[in-house]
Amino acid sequence: MADKAKVAIFISGRGSNMAALLYAAKLAGAAYEVVLVAANDPHAEGLALAEAERVSTFALSHKGMQREEHDKAMDQAAHDAGAEFIVLAGYMRILTDGFVDRWAGRMLNIHPSLLPKYPGLDTHQRAIDAGDSHGGVSVHLVTSELDAGEVLGQVEVAIRPGETAASLADRVRFAEHQLYPHVLNEYLGRENDPTFLLEKVRELALALPQSHERESHGSPGWRAGSEKSGKYFAYFNDQHHGSDHIAVLVKTGSMDELLDLVEAQPQAYFKPAYYGASGWIGVILNRPGLDWEHVSDWLERSWRAVAPNSATKLIDAADQF
Ligand code: GRF
Repeated sequence: MADKAKVAIFISGRGSNMAALLYAAKLAGAAYEVVLVAANDPHAEGLALAEAERVSTFALSHKGMQREEHDKAMDQAAHDAGAEFIVLAGYMRILTDGFVDRWAGRMLNIHPSLLPKYPGLDTHQRAIDAGDSHGGVSVHLVTSELDAGEVLGQVEVAIRPGETAASLADRVRFAEHQLYPHVLNEYLGRENDPTFLLEKVRELALALPQSHERESHGSPGWRAGSEKSGKYFAYFNDQHHGSDHIAVLVKTGSMDELLDLVEAQPQAYFKPAYYGASGWIGVILNRPGLDWEHVSDWLERSWRAVAPNSATKLIDAADQF
């Protein structure tokens, strides 16, 4: 089995979700291990539990500190612990954009409502007041807009007659403890799941003008231009020729560029069998924290190298806005 993903959990209080994540990490098949529990309140209850379970902890009160400065220290602690992902579990701080950007695609949060309903506070009371039949909980990716990143999973929790915010919160918490480890495992599994990776590449490749999919030697490929005379700009490569990479092959500018990239960043690039000889590079997709923007940039670049002028003009015009 692949190495487990290293996760830092950020808390501010009780840490019951942290406990759920910690114990779920000990179950067979868990895709992650908890390398750090960090808090912005040295008295956060969850810290004592983490210590008892011999998980490293870090605490730094945010009081009297600039937001940037505090985020930086938390970032450093996560980094020093070797964390590849940050999981927010009742972390009651708004994070700076810089922090959020650095962990883009690698930071999750749990929010006690059925997002997009009720971002922010008092979620249970708002659901009750609105006469909703259900409250619930969502796990989502963190982006700079509060509680607005991609929702990765949800559980609905029925609202009973005479329900109070406190009684609903108690029941939602049971759902939270089930949902969070489950979604985290699933999300981490995604990066090694060829079906998911292919779907993402396909979406990006087909978003380029005049592109279409055509199988090549049993692998999905994408061509620019007409069905008849189009040229390939990308191939999907699922552990071909004994390599464990799941990758997309795209065109580089030259063999020198290809070799330099492979040498400088072997975790991100490789020289594929056969195709490598003609300047195609493998961009590795099954790795932690893959930046899809980066994949998209490569696809566009490779597409530009073969696309007809009529198509590149379209994208140049769009880029001006
Ligand atoms: C949970 O209700 C969670 O949804 C919200 O903060 C609370 C944290 O509780 N983000 P705990 O500290 O995990 O017990």
